[in-house]
Amino acid sequence: MEKKSSSFSRRNFFKTSFGTLGAVSGTLAAKSVFGQALNLETPRQTLGPFFPDDGDPVKEIRENLDFRLPISEANDNDLTFLNGHKGKAQGQIVYLKGKVLLNKGNGTREPQPGAVIIMWNASASGRYNHRGDTETTRFKHPKTGKLIERTHDENFQYWGRCITDKQGNYWFKTIVPGFYPVDLEDGWYRPPHLHFMVTAPAIPQLVTQLYFKGNQVIDNDFIQELNAKDGILRSGRLKAEEQENLVVKYQKDTTGKITDGLVGNYDFVLSL
Ligand SMILES: [Fe+2]
Repeated sequence: MEKKSSSFSRRNFFKTSFGTLGAVSGTLAAKSVFGQALNLETPRQTLGPFFPDDGDPVKEIRENLDFRLPISEANDNDLTFLNGHKGKAQGQIVYLKGKVLLNKGNGTREPQPGAVIIMWNASASGRYNHRGDTETTRFKHPKTGKLIERTHDENFQYWGRCITDKQGNYWFKTIVPGFYPVDLEDGWYRPPHLHFMVTAPAIPQLVTQLYFKGNQVIDNDFIQELNAKDGILRSGRLKAEEQENLVVKYQKDTTGKITDGLVGNYDFVLSL
């Protein structure tokens, strides 16, 4: 009995840590969105409980050995392997490319050079490299009943960083992360998603999450079911067009240059 009530309160604490932050960021978004398609700035999403921290349980991943850098800034923009490891990260490889733009109003946007983008995401089985990610490491797939073990992938980089070039361009290479349960009793699973923090001088920081779609994304139908009912993506504070703005389509590279993964395009639009 005692065990049940303690796990119940932990579960609620965990759920609240997703939801409360959602309320805060939703309010910020509502203030600053103008609703016109051209002016649509990137909607905000929760930071979530798994922002990269020093001292996480898995061996620290630090491709840049300048120890003055926090762990979130000590890695590059290809998360699919680690320097010095022979193995590659598990999961379907995807590239995300685009620009960071500054919304100047009146329908104009300017490329933002020198913006720092930090990205973090779960492993292919849905586990973060974070000391707080210890809940429900085994669960049954809600459709197939197959047991899923959320495990660490020793060849996955988990966190990445990219600085935009003079034209505001950035790119990342990562894997489609696994979905994971927030509340099994309520049937709430987070769909696969990538987390971002975008920082540029004198511009309010953007924190958001991007989601997946595309016929060639593995389990796309199931992912769309999860997208449709995710409490964070489908926040009532976001208009339908803002929600759709966060779901990125991944497909084969039309130029034929990228052959080892699907490619998604997304422009982060910041606002003063
Ligand atoms: Fe997450």
